[in-house]
Amino acid sequence: MKAQFGIIGLATMGQNLALNIARHGFSVAGYNRSPERTKALMERVQDEPILPTYSLREFVVALKTPRAILLMVQAGKPVDEVVSELFPLLEPGDLVIDGGNSHFSDTERRIREAQSRGLFYLGVGISGGEAGALHGPAIMAGGDQEGYVRVEPIFKSIAAQGLDGPCVGYFGPGGAGHYVKMVHNGIEYAIMQAIAECYDLLKRGLGFSPPEISEIFSEWNQGELESYLLEITVNILRTRDPETGGFLVEAIKDTAEQKGTGKWSTQDALDLGAPTPTIAEAVFARIVSALKEERLAAERILAGPEPRLPIPPGEFLMDLKRAYALAVVTAYSQGFRQLRDATAEHGYDFPLAEVARVWTGGCIIRARLLAEMREAFRREPSLPLLLLAEPFRQFWKEGHESLRNVVCAAHKAGIPVPAMSSVLNFLDAYRTGRLPANLIQAQRDYFGAHTYERLDKPGKFHTHWEEASRC
Ligand code: 6PG
Repeated sequence: MKAQFGIIGLATMGQNLALNIARHGFSVAGYNRSPERTKALMERVQDEPILPTYSLREFVVALKTPRAILLMVQAGKPVDEVVSELFPLLEPGDLVIDGGNSHFSDTERRIREAQSRGLFYLGVGISGGEAGALHGPAIMAGGDQEGYVRVEPIFKSIAAQGLDGPCVGYFGPGGAGHYVKMVHNGIEYAIMQAIAECYDLLKRGLGFSPPEISEIFSEWNQGELESYLLEITVNILRTRDPETGGFLVEAIKDTAEQKGTGKWSTQDALDLGAPTPTIAEAVFARIVSALKEERLAAERILAGPEPRLPIPPGEFLMDLKRAYALAVVTAYSQGFRQLRDATAEHGYDFPLAEVARVWTGGCIIRARLLAEMREAFRREPSLPLLLLAEPFRQFWKEGHESLRNVVCAAHKAGIPVPAMSSVLNFLDAYRTGRLPANLIQAQRDYFGAHTYERLDKPGKFHTHWEEASRC
């Protein structure tokens, strides 16, 4: 019997997806370059229909035609290496699915290559980490629609259940699926950074212990702010270090790594001219965190205030919760805005309500608020900024003073809050009808004759500033 589905790349994500797919009744052939991982998968198999293979050729022959093959290999060169070995072994009509975090432009290139060989190719963002892969991820697909239709039943059966069904979406041709996943990760970075800033303010600013902070976050997580990222943070903060007996989080080195999706999201936002400063700040915050040695040296040179918040904790906690809520809604607002802007530039056409629906379950940024986000985009599909719609504008109304209090207090105490202060800067700029950019235009025209527009009449104007300023 030939297998209905194939997976190349059997690290944890690949193994877990193989088990998930097989447990839903689809037979799976697995292949990994180093056989140890294939063997490790087979040790986990009970009675799931999984067939191990030990060469690419054996793998290809083991699959029912037309084949459907999921690549779960590291993004970048490893995907190109597998693709260049695999494509020549396939037949027209076969389907290759890249389930890693590939850059959307790499996916577009590989789709062209696949099409020239008569193959179908999908770029699919799979979110939810190891547990999601095993029990139900969110799946953001893009690429050849004909290929997608073939594997949709498998995706739907293995995905998490969210609002109105499985968290699976087809978001259009080319790299659309990987684009949505990239922006998902940008939002993920911003929310993680906002949570980390709250933790720092509570820890260094108010002297709370990890389990006390865990309790606070747990209370936040009871209501409309309920989210996966908050939930895991609650658990992290109460976890003990078996080696020292202290809290494990305090033993972890304060340098955040990154695989690139947040950076790519920001790079493309810059190319598009999409306003995602909070996502960008979260990427820069990771970059600064990585400069551990330099930070330790600078700590001794650049003295600053004591990182203490001289505020009654009760009052501050109310402000912090509202500030956090506004920061989270802004992170999503910026991400959805990027998806909207990418439509014109990259030729995608993201149905934002459907993106929000797919994110209601399985993925890392799943949160209760996504149901309301979906409604907001259903009412107004091309809403420029989520925060302009109800109920999200309430987050501004009820939260902006609190955010000001938090950011001011943090700045005074010398505690960095790049995500939260960027939220405030962004929203204050966005709601200001007249910004000081008129002066920037005048400066550009002064030194570069770049011209400027006027408020009172149409056209482009240039002034000989040296001359004119002498009169
Ligand atoms: C997900 C995660 C997942 C992974 C990221 C982490 O949606 O399941 O986003 O894709 O954890 O690769 O990215 P960084 O290494 O860049 O933090």
